[in-house]
Amino acid sequence: MKEKLDILVANYRNEIDQSLKHLQIPEKPPGLYTPMVYSVTAPGKRIRPLLTFLTGEGLGVDHDRLRPAALAVEVLHAFTLVHDDIMDNDTQRRGLETVHVKWNTNTAILTGDGLMALACRLLMETDALRIRQMGFEFSQAMLEICEGQSLDVEFESRLDVTTESYLEMVGKKTGRLLGLSCQLGALISDADESVAGNLNQFGIELGQAFQIQDDLLEITSDARNMGKSLDSDIISGKKTYPLILIMDGLSINEKQSFLEFMKTNLDNRAAILDVFRRKNVFAETSEKITQLMNNALKRLDQLPSKTTENLQYLVDMISKRQR
Ligand code: IPE
Ligand code: IPE
Ligand code: MG
Ligand code: MG
Repeated sequence: MKEKLDILVANYRNEIDQSLKHLQIPEKPPGLYTPMVYSVTAPGKRIRPLLTFLTGEGLGVDHDRLRPAALAVEVLHAFTLVHDDIMDNDTQRRGLETVHVKWNTNTAILTGDGLMALACRLLMETDALRIRQMGFEFSQAMLEICEGQSLDVEFESRLDVTTESYLEMVGKKTGRLLGLSCQLGALISDADESVAGNLNQFGIELGQAFQIQDDLLEITSDARNMGKSLDSDIISGKKTYPLILIMDGLSINEKQSFLEFMKTNLDNRAAILDVFRRKNVFAETSEKITQLMNNALKRLDQLPSKTTENLQYLVDMISKRQR
């Protein structure tokens, strides 16, 4: 079973990459379309379209009928990354220069706008009875991603962020898109409302775990492996999960000193890692990731076995990710 899914997922990734290369994007004006193509064809893990394909197929939908929605969630993701990189002042993404660095901020804003429009157009190519509900959920998810991004920025200047408010923020900025990716597969299959809702919740919890992994990797990994610049979390004072744990119980002054310590040791990761390790924060963070993934998996109990197997495979793949 696992070997079969290994091959299937590798094939689907190739197919997604090919489809993204052959999206009907015009050449002119190049100031808009060249960076749009650059952004969607840059090498990503393609997790969101994989969720749409594997959910929908598990529920009996033909692969081809899922393609427009699968591409729509990946293009929507590319849009959020372009704007996120402006907001986070990051210079590298998917091993390449970010759009606002390679071109400029105005170009990156417009590239994001264009990608958002393209994502909506792709979604509307779907042949499904519930296309209207799909349009509603797609728009609602975009709004929730914006809410999450707004909280993420607000938290930068706060020292009192709790793990609960962190989970709400990442459930929106990252989880909801994973939820949407599964939900669309369910809506195309015309599944019951409860199935689509459960799959959305599954994706939100998986996304919370995914974001905590990302926070952890941004401290423990390096920019070359991750293909993106990693210093911005520290420079901008992002309230990541490991940081919230380490600051728990400290006074305001101690919290400020710790943030300063991290900034002055940006080039001395070993010193930062040492503190996190001594406070046992990595172990606690990993436990939380496992707990959220297990909660997500419990939501799959009532689904047809093929969907459960498919999504269990993706959760397992994500749990082992190193980038
Ligand atoms: C990056 O998502 C943004 C986060 C939610 C952490 P991915 O890690 O899925 O990025 P790509 O698509 O593989 O580049
Ligand atoms: C990811 O945000 C969520 C969105 C892009 C909406 P981050 O800012 O945490 O992700 P990276 O580290 O830039 O990929
Ligand atoms: Mg970012
Ligand atoms: Mg961000």
